[in-house]
Amino acid sequence: MTELGWGRHYVAVEPTHFRVDYVINPFMDPAVQPDGPTAWRQWHEMVETLRRLGATVDVMPQRSDAPDMVYAMNLGLGIVPEHGTPRVVMSHMRYAERRMETRSAQPWFAERGWATSYVGRDGVGAHLEAGDAFAWGDALVVGYGPRTEELALKHLASDLGVRVRGVRITHPGMYHLDLAFCPLDDRRAMVCPSALDEASAAALLELVPEPLVLTEEEALTTFCANSVVVGNTVVMPACPDRVRAQLEEWGFEVVVVDVAEFHKGGGSIRCLTNPVDLTVGRDLPGVPGGEVVLPPA
Ligand code: ARG
Repeated sequence: MTELGWGRHYVAVEPTHFRVDYVINPFMDPAVQPDGPTAWRQWHEMVETLRRLGATVDVMPQRSDAPDMVYAMNLGLGIVPEHGTPRVVMSHMRYAERRMETRSAQPWFAERGWATSYVGRDGVGAHLEAGDAFAWGDALVVGYGPRTEELALKHLASDLGVRVRGVRITHPGMYHLDLAFCPLDDRRAMVCPSALDEASAAALLELVPEPLVLTEEEALTTFCANSVVVGNTVVMPACPDRVRAQLEEWGFEVVVVDVAEFHKGGGSIRCLTNPVDLTVGRDLPGVPGGEVVLPPA
């Protein structure tokens, strides 16, 4: 196996204003609020774990009016192009409740030397939420449906000069692809096919030479697909025995970090961390002009 090239440099948002103020996914209930000190401790333990494994984690402050901003994965898609400056394609969130997040995140990235761009602007253009996108094989695999719109795939492909393979998400509880898909190395990934329509599930499984297939229950109740991989260590919010046995047989080390307070907002470890070291020419090929491949209708 060859380790993933990306996943050594993350941006995360310190949870100073994390709350559940509205409902935009089936996990959220304003009557069930996170415990502030517990969330703070869990988040710091997660960041320390990533740093101990050798990853760099840059910390962005949270806007007081943006309770979901802790889910840093959705701020934008960081990508290092073959030529030129590292950039972040800022998300254009599906729900107005989250749109102010990128108004702070964009200058934060820009001040630190990233070029920033949008595929769409408030009210114009297409919704894109970066938690839907992964470099995998010969393409950027992007989930669309509940959050990202199909039109965003075309923008992404041409703006970045890469191939984009769309997969259609149909499960309301797995509203971002990162709740159902987790690349592990160059051949293996956790995949929960019940997140997708039949054609997309088949297409995604075809792209993964050695899939670790998750049941709907495993993905929804443990958030185990919402994990991050640093080298050969999988940092997971929980790990069902069956999943652990397969990961260990493959030579991965499993480190569990409890981030249960953040499950109340509908996200886990991957949602809380945004890798910004995805590199064209290393993690996915450049395709001049871009190309979109959609599953059969
Ligand atoms: N409450 C957030 C939302 O619904 C959770 C985001 C989870 N993030 C993720 N990458 N799946 O947008």
